[in-house]
Amino acid sequence: MTGSSFDIVVLISGRGSNLQSIIDAIANRELPVRIAAVISNRADATGLQHAKNAGVTVAVVDDKKFSTRESFDAELMRVIDSYQPNLVVLAGFMRILGEPFVRHYSGKLVNIHPALLPEFPGLNTHARALTSGATRHGASVHFVTPEVDAGPVIIQRAVQVLESDTAETLAARVLEQEHEIYPLAIRWIAENRVSIDGDRVLIDGAELAEQGLIH
Ligand code: GRF
Repeated sequence: MTGSSFDIVVLISGRGSNLQSIIDAIANRELPVRIAAVISNRADATGLQHAKNAGVTVAVVDDKKFSTRESFDAELMRVIDSYQPNLVVLAGFMRILGEPFVRHYSGKLVNIHPALLPEFPGLNTHARALTSGATRHGASVHFVTPEVDAGPVIIQRAVQVLESDTAETLAARVLEQEHEIYPLAIRWIAENRVSIDGDRVLIDGAELAEQGLIH
């Protein structure tokens, strides 16, 4: 941490549109944090360019260079910790992180998932929502726990599923919501308004459902 700033490290693997929404929110003074670094497990992640354009430090920890998950996770931890972040933000990071990694950042590791958890953990959420006949779908920001896509939810935003939707049109509407709720959730954490109570999250000491923050 530098001075009194709240520093985050953002982990990406690809497109980086959620990273861009965080960069934009900081530039618009809606998000009082500093991105200490963006780290990708792929050198060709297009999102790295968003970081460079914003003058943010980038690093690559290439998972293909490690023969085990443990050795990759350990190196990733070492690089992250060299920036001493207050919060680690997974933004389209497509690697499952092992339990020692997750425990190391307990309460300081968040993810955004394109579904209304606990519905549709895992991949291809939009196509699965359509196939299941769901009338509502959406996105969730949650703390990361060792079980994939299962940690305590901080905020969700729902969209209606339209009869005309394809996985692509549905994904696009959900993504718009992702770009609003991720900077918001990070802001609440930076402002010290978020607490974890067992498997629930409280904002300003109150339950999310009471505040209309989960669906
Ligand atoms: C988003 O849909 C996010 O919810 C999921 O991966 C996607 C990443 O997109 N975890 P982007 O790289 O932020 O554009």
